[in-house]
Amino acid sequence: MKFCILMSSPRFHGNTAEILKPFMAELEKHQASVCYITLADKNIKPCKGCYVCQDVQDEYGCIQKDDTQKIMEQLIEADCVVLATPIYTWYCTPSMKALLDRHYGLNKYYGSASGSLWAGKKIALITTHGYDVEYATSPFETGMKRFCDHSHLEYLGMYSVRDEDNLASFQTEEAMNGARVFARKLLEVK
Ligand SMILES: Cc1cc2nc3c(=O)[nH]c(=O)nc-3n(C[C@H](O)[C@H](O)[C@H](O)COP(=O)(O)O)c2cc1C
Repeated sequence: MKFCILMSSPRFHGNTAEILKPFMAELEKHQASVCYITLADKNIKPCKGCYVCQDVQDEYGCIQKDDTQKIMEQLIEADCVVLATPIYTWYCTPSMKALLDRHYGLNKYYGSASGSLWAGKKIALITTHGYDVEYATSPFETGMKRFCDHSHLEYLGMYSVRDEDNLASFQTEEAMNGARVFARKLLEVK
């Protein structure tokens, strides 16, 4: 299975990156292909809402020239897309939100083009947060479940770890083992 991991913390060696280490190591141990992309250092412009992409058949079709086209190509090659983000103000960080909004060209729902460039792909979430898991993550998880329904993607679930002691919270055996278990759960999905 091919995984595309989109990591949207502006801290490239922060909590979210830390919990991804055992997760990705477990995927690789089981011979999965892993593509790791940081988003905070990419040029991902906000969607203009121009709808031009909706009249471009079988291609992403966005008129904006930035790093998004390449990220979408990498995402289209994957079987499973893992959205890894710290929770910022009850949702994902701005780079991931901008990328999520730019999904429009993958769904041809609103113009002369039709179909989807990514229907059927699997989506999983990895989040880190300061508040307890339910309070911190439920708005983002609810939004992403609806996003998956809307885009005909298969939602596989979320692994999250609370930031109680900075990096140390993500280096405990419990946190690291949870990441490994989550990786194996994703690998078992047919
Ligand atoms: C600007 C900002 C907003 C945050 N908003 C929330 C929030 O709404 N809920 C929450 O539980 N934690 C929040 N946090 C805490 C982070 O989610 C948490 O520390 C996370 O582990 C940071 O991950 P990172 O080191 O990968 O960036 C926020 C942190 C920052 C800097």
